[in-house]
Amino acid sequence: MKRLLYISTARSILPPSELDELLTKSRKANAMADITGLLVVGGRRFLQVLEGPDEAVAETYVRISRDPRHVALVKLHDKEVPIRAFGSWAMGCEQGGVASASASLEEQVYAIIAPITDPTLRAYFMGFAETHTRM
Ligand SMILES: Cc1cc2nc3c(=O)[nH]c(=O)nc-3n(C[C@H](O)[C@H](O)[C@H](O)COP(=O)(O)O)c2cc1C
Repeated sequence: MKRLLYISTARSILPPSELDELLTKSRKANAMADITGLLVVGGRRFLQVLEGPDEAVAETYVRISRDPRHVALVKLHDKEVPIRAFGSWAMGCEQGGVASASASLEEQVYAIIAPITDPTLRAYFMGFAETHTRM
């Protein structure tokens, strides 16, 4: 079981109808592949967690990374985990905050997750960002 976190930048902000469509398709594909996760959308930034069987996560990430709707993907975390932390959603979606493009990656992650009030979710994202910056 793997958990992967990445940050990326939308070419242009997705209108709500397009985001809805993206989520509907993603949830269908993720359910088939036993993937769960969360997508946080903050301005033009996406922060997404994918969890599931190793192969399925790797294959889904490759597909996502080729998607022309976003660029500059940076993998923040890609790790074997014993259990899911985001098991409740085939792909949940949260509205994130807007990060300054000149901020460090860690500061950008903090800005994007700022509106998230769920303490468990916050703790996971902060932990991931810190792990990355320590590497
Ligand atoms: C920010 C973002 C997140 C995405 N998340 C997922 C996802 O969790 N699962 C998924 O199957 N596709 C996701 N997609 C869509 C894929 O990139 C791709 O468009 C879709 O899987 C269809 O791929 P195909 O055209 O190669 O069949 C995401 C796209 C973007 C831009």
